[in-house]
Amino acid sequence: MHLPNFLEARTRDKRNYSRVDFSFDSKLQNKYQGKTYYIKTYGCQMNEHDSENIAALLEQLGFQKVDKYTQADFILLNTCSIRENAHNKAFGMLGRIKHLRNEKKDIIVGICGCMAQEESVVERILRDYKFVNFVLGTHNMHQLPEVIEKSIQENKQQIEVFSREGDLYEGLPVLRTNSYKAYVNIIYGCDKFCTYCIVPYTRGRERSRKKEDILNEINTLIRDGYKEVTLLGQNVNAYGKDLYDDYHMDQLLEDVAKTGIPRVRFMTSHPWDFTDRMIDVIAKYPNIMPSIHLPIQSGSNQVLKRMGRRYTKESYLELFHKMKEKIPRVTISTDIIVGFPGESEEDFLETMKVVEECRFDNAFTFIFSVRKGTPAEKLEDHISLEEKEERLQRLNTVINQIFLEKNQKLEGSSLEVLVEGISSKKKMYFGYSDTNKLINFTSEKPLEVGDIVSVKITSAKTWSLDGEV
Ligand code: SAH
Ligand code: SF4
Ligand code: F3S
Repeated sequence: MHLPNFLEARTRDKRNYSRVDFSFDSKLQNKYQGKTYYIKTYGCQMNEHDSENIAALLEQLGFQKVDKYTQADFILLNTCSIRENAHNKAFGMLGRIKHLRNEKKDIIVGICGCMAQEESVVERILRDYKFVNFVLGTHNMHQLPEVIEKSIQENKQQIEVFSREGDLYEGLPVLRTNSYKAYVNIIYGCDKFCTYCIVPYTRGRERSRKKEDILNEINTLIRDGYKEVTLLGQNVNAYGKDLYDDYHMDQLLEDVAKTGIPRVRFMTSHPWDFTDRMIDVIAKYPNIMPSIHLPIQSGSNQVLKRMGRRYTKESYLELFHKMKEKIPRVTISTDIIVGFPGESEEDFLETMKVVEECRFDNAFTFIFSVRKGTPAEKLEDHISLEEKEERLQRLNTVINQIFLEKNQKLEGSSLEVLVEGISSKKKMYFGYSDTNKLINFTSEKPLEVGDIVSVKITSAKTWSLDGEV
């Protein structure tokens, strides 16, 4: 039994980690043939991608996928800790599984992902959710086959969570949900320690994958017919800093672009590490998509300081305008937190002002959610939830209006779209433009998923555009 410990999770040192080739224990191959699995994934793209590795591990064990948790012999929740409602969703699901277990006594239930790294969550599972067969941390996901095996054979709850990041595993099997666009991890963990955020505790120190491993993976994807890769990390701009003296995100982006894959995306970028060289590379290569996610969080310098974001409103705006100037047609999206402890009405109005200035193409807006063990937990918070909700609503009204106006400007123009499928409701094709706009469209000629076509925009909505090939 290994229990998570936040104090340990917080430590950062330059100790070396090794790159280890994953190998699947051949004794377990197909051992659970005839059994079924269901994975419920919460949270970010990193979790979605982890679930693609997990699915492949389960299929090597012989499990077969089903679409409803009520049909599964094995249910795995791949959880997220970022806000309270992510917690609530996972615990709500556990409640439903508890009911199901009254009828199906022998289902196996596992929990992995970020919540597994939280002390308070594991305590609660040990106390109130004794039926959960195992909890597996983010740093030792490669142990999934043996932990499943152990929890079945020993018939007692297994808690296997490493508080510190360990070695970096390469070569985990993967079962991708898409056959034309793929996630590729480039850096794990986060060292930024924004005061509100739990990720540095649940995902550990920043560790970059070797450039050769990344490029090999992308070349394999190209051979398999993939059209788009999204390079993933909590802060992709920090890529390489822990590993190389002279090879960083700008060079990696350039090398990925040179592989010739038709579309390259990356996320997420912290404004702090975004270099001019990166901007130049994005502007230079037509296959690096002109669409950047650049979270601002707040437009008030005082709030940014208390958030530990390491930039000011002014330096954010300077970077923002530089991108707009140097990268043709670039769209920029953002994340905003309202109601951070101590945020005054003036602070909030500063955020509104920045939003009016930047006119973001997309924005994810959140009410601050206290995370246990983070520095912001200790900050005094005088604002009522009603007031925070009211601010969120005011903010959303403005940004939605901006989205609509920006989309309306696109009417009559043409955008390059990667065909993702046909929506069952509308009987129209859908896909994303290079600038990351969701587009529903018709075509006289039949199209294949993965085709890249030019679509003329006929009408604009707040969240999407309609068009025709
Ligand atoms: N690494 C990414 C963020 C990942 S979390 C980055 O720094 O850009 C995605 C978003 O969730 C954050 O940008 C932030 O806006 C929001 N978030 C994180 N912690 C939060 C909290 N405690 N309460 C509310 N929103 C939070
Ligand atoms: Fe969290 Fe900040 Fe790291 Fe993003 S950069 S994951 S918000 S600590
Ligand atoms: Fe959530 Fe963990 Fe991602 S907290 S947002 S799943 S890194």
